[in-house]
Amino acid sequence: MKLFYCLILFFPPLFIYAQPNNKTLNLIPAPVSLVRNTGNFTLPQKIAIQSTQTAERSQTLAILKERLTVPTGYSVTYDNTGKATIFLILNQKQDSLLGNEGYQLSVETDKITIRANQEAGLFYGVQTLVQLFPKEIESKTLVNQANWQCPCVEITDYPKLSWRGLMFDVSRHFFTKTEVKQYIDAMVRYKYNLLHLHLTDDEGWRIEIKGLPKLTEIGAWNVKRTGYFGSFLPPTPDEPRDYGGYYTHEDIKELVAYAKARFVDILPEIDVPGHSLAAVASYPELSCTPEAVNYKVRSGEKIMDWSRGAPPIALLDNTLCPANEKVYDFLDKVVSQVAALFPFPYIHMGGDEASVNYWQKTEAISQLMTRENLKSMHEVQGYFERRVEKIVQSKGKKLMGWDEVLECGVKPTTAIMSWRGMKYGIEAAKNKHEVVMSPTTYAYLDFMQADEITEPKVYATLRLNKCYEFEPIPDSVDSKYIKGAQANLWTEQVYNIRQAEYMTWPRGFAIAEAAWTPKGAKDWVNFFSRVEEHFKRLEITETKYAPSVYDPIFVVRRNSDKKLIVELKTEIEGLDMYYSFDNSFPDHYYPKYTQPLVVPIDASILRVITYRGKKPMGRMMHMPVEELKKRSSKNK
Ligand code: ACM
Repeated sequence: MKLFYCLILFFPPLFIYAQPNNKTLNLIPAPVSLVRNTGNFTLPQKIAIQSTQTAERSQTLAILKERLTVPTGYSVTYDNTGKATIFLILNQKQDSLLGNEGYQLSVETDKITIRANQEAGLFYGVQTLVQLFPKEIESKTLVNQANWQCPCVEITDYPKLSWRGLMFDVSRHFFTKTEVKQYIDAMVRYKYNLLHLHLTDDEGWRIEIKGLPKLTEIGAWNVKRTGYFGSFLPPTPDEPRDYGGYYTHEDIKELVAYAKARFVDILPEIDVPGHSLAAVASYPELSCTPEAVNYKVRSGEKIMDWSRGAPPIALLDNTLCPANEKVYDFLDKVVSQVAALFPFPYIHMGGDEASVNYWQKTEAISQLMTRENLKSMHEVQGYFERRVEKIVQSKGKKLMGWDEVLECGVKPTTAIMSWRGMKYGIEAAKNKHEVVMSPTTYAYLDFMQADEITEPKVYATLRLNKCYEFEPIPDSVDSKYIKGAQANLWTEQVYNIRQAEYMTWPRGFAIAEAAWTPKGAKDWVNFFSRVEEHFKRLEITETKYAPSVYDPIFVVRRNSDKKLIVELKTEIEGLDMYYSFDNSFPDHYYPKYTQPLVVPIDASILRVITYRGKKPMGRMMHMPVEELKKRSSKNK
């Protein structure tokens, strides 16, 4: 019997924590099991660590050392004589409970021990330990605080899912190598282990492919615009195409190594046959459409008509031509270099939102359909996907695609990333595909986090409390097919790394917990109390986060007298709301919201702000009465 279980049996703990119900320890993601014992460990000024110092452990030790010394001014030495204060130990005999990424963390009054089967487990044990120390441990500079303590605990922890991903779209806006590293640094604190890089799209091709130089000479650059992406004026021929960038092979190798040292795999995505305008603008012969010779990489102007839903009607042909052999030669070159650069066993080849309206009028596609006996445009894409899968497999890799490829009849060997809700993931798992759940319903980080009057406007909203409901393993499927859970950050409206952080946190906390912590009763109040502690940590690390969860929610209707009625709600408990209709800025001396408001007939603006006690929490919301009127007529 393991020591841990003996302890629980014979020395009943003060507190056993099998689900996220702990009010005092602010761990994200919540661990599988936590026993809070009496007493605290006090960090000594001279910290001795017992550990081997291998290359694989270098980041584990570097992070531990940096966190314990930079803010404190204390020193760390290595001591392998058994007299250390912190022990990092790889199990001689594998503990099957812990698997490859689990760990046991024991904090006693005089020492700390982290044990794991594999190096990744030690890395996660250190991440948890850092979260147990005061938040100032995150400081990049010396802080004047003595007597750092960490509560005595016994933690046994391991992930629910082996794929805990964040997708970063570096195509719509380019993010430098340094920014991608910064993103990795933030994600590993929450035990994410997979970075999906969306490397190609209509707005940019971001990876050097030797022998296809135009992909990066032409395909990586567009015209810089700001504002509401998707509705920009079409660029004129004289506007410089100097906005963008790409990663060289050396850059990719550096990123892969940086990620690997932090136990993160990188999944590359080459999104075809749709979303391919950057490739087509570079090599127009890949298109079915002769006018492609005039195409340019998209700069945010309208190229799709979504008014009739998905797939969209393309206003120009942003697809690779499935009937063109040159396309498969091109993909063979691309995939062989991608396969060599990224050691991860999967390559994501997109497959989403491919428009077919140009294919429908292409003679070569009709001939392909006759020759291959293809009955529909789905079957045309299916033919394409099967050819792509052969190419991917020929490089020793497995194919992953967005869930549209299911409708194209791909084989169960294709792994599916379910994005249009959970249902395609469920269908795929029932048909024995490997599945990663990244549904818009819970995990789309490009969606707005609060009311569109304060957030950069996108077509949908996904609040933190909805993300927190995410349960990636549905009851109706065999869990062995659910490989992972992932949140996706598309960057059409994300122009810089600060905004990327804002969109990722705190929703990334909720997805991290959905991917790591065992399925069980969700406790939103407890989760949010932990989130608030992590807001303080993000402030110290100067990582941007969205405070949107503190903003009020507006619900509007007309009553039977046709009066405009506004109901105000909050996403979290314990906030008061103060409001004004008189164009001034409310504070906690203003009228407090207690019941639905009747909008005065001449009012032009409703301003609302949330407080906790005397402290303003949300942002000042400026809601035009005209907007309320518009919403009330939509709600009819
Ligand atoms: C997607 O969001 N189009 C995969």
